[in-house]
Amino acid sequence: MDFTKKNVVVTGGASGIGKAIAAGIVKGGGHAIIVDLNLDAAKAACTELGNASAYRIDMGDSDNVRTVMAQVLQDLGQVHVLVNNAGIVSTKAFEDVDQAEWNRAVAINLTGVYTAISALYPSMKEKGYGRIVNISSVAGKRGGGLLGTSAYAATKAGVIGLTKAVAREGAPHGIACNCVCPSYTLTPMTAIMDEEKTKKVLSTIPLGRGAQPEEIANMVLFFASDLASFATGEISDCDGGVTMDG
Ligand SMILES: NC(=O)c1ccc[n+]([C@@H]2O[C@H](COP(=O)([O-])OP(=O)(O)OC[C@H]3O[C@@H](n4cnc5c(N)ncnc54)[C@H](O)[C@@H]3O)[C@@H](O)[C@H]2O)c1
Repeated sequence: MDFTKKNVVVTGGASGIGKAIAAGIVKGGGHAIIVDLNLDAAKAACTELGNASAYRIDMGDSDNVRTVMAQVLQDLGQVHVLVNNAGIVSTKAFEDVDQAEWNRAVAINLTGVYTAISALYPSMKEKGYGRIVNISSVAGKRGGGLLGTSAYAATKAGVIGLTKAVAREGAPHGIACNCVCPSYTLTPMTAIMDEEKTKKVLSTIPLGRGAQPEEIANMVLFFASDLASFATGEISDCDGGVTMDG
């Protein structure tokens, strides 16, 4: 996919799915801006990938998100694509989720996505061009059930609603907003699962295996590219057949 002359911000781009997305951007001739809580890992990813730059960001801190996005805009002039990939999982049973856990999941997974879009939306509108791709999860459609539980599922469902609203309002201004919902993907996030839990999860996936991060990245890259020129507000499953929407 062609990303020539495109500046693409990937939140959480230092690891897992985000790193695979950043790699695809660079492979397509674009510039990947990796914004991540872990600056050392973001810098290491940039060194590995080539045409990429790193910024530290805390998606759970709205002021920081606005400051970093403003800095990126100042440094690069234009952000063509924003990929909201950074996220944390919450795995506790509903009764064990305390207020702090809930607030943290909402701050990073939902408010962080809102704030990043909000910080870049005016410049995208001014340029008449913007592509936003949000990463939700099967959990946002099913109410959890694989690894993430209530707090995680609620934030990921929120991302689905936000995607559609931004798509609706952004369309007249050349801003597209789409969403990808992965299921079990082999990244550091899921490496915490034990053998028994992994077996159980795999038994619910028709393809019978977890995804490689690149397999999720491929769908994200499609929505980030101009190949998706007539797609907006799409909530797209990349889940090995778990969901099979009607
Ligand atoms: N791995 C899966 O099975 C799976 C399934 C469905 C959805 N997802 C979603 O895909 C996205 C990527 O997941 P992954 O598996 O690659 O995760 P990961 O844990 O491998 O990577 C997440 C990245 O986000 C960064 N990050 C975490 N908190 C941050 C914060 N507050 N601010 C900025 N960066 C932060 C981390 O440093 C890391 O680089 C997440 O939104 C996740 O919810 C993952």
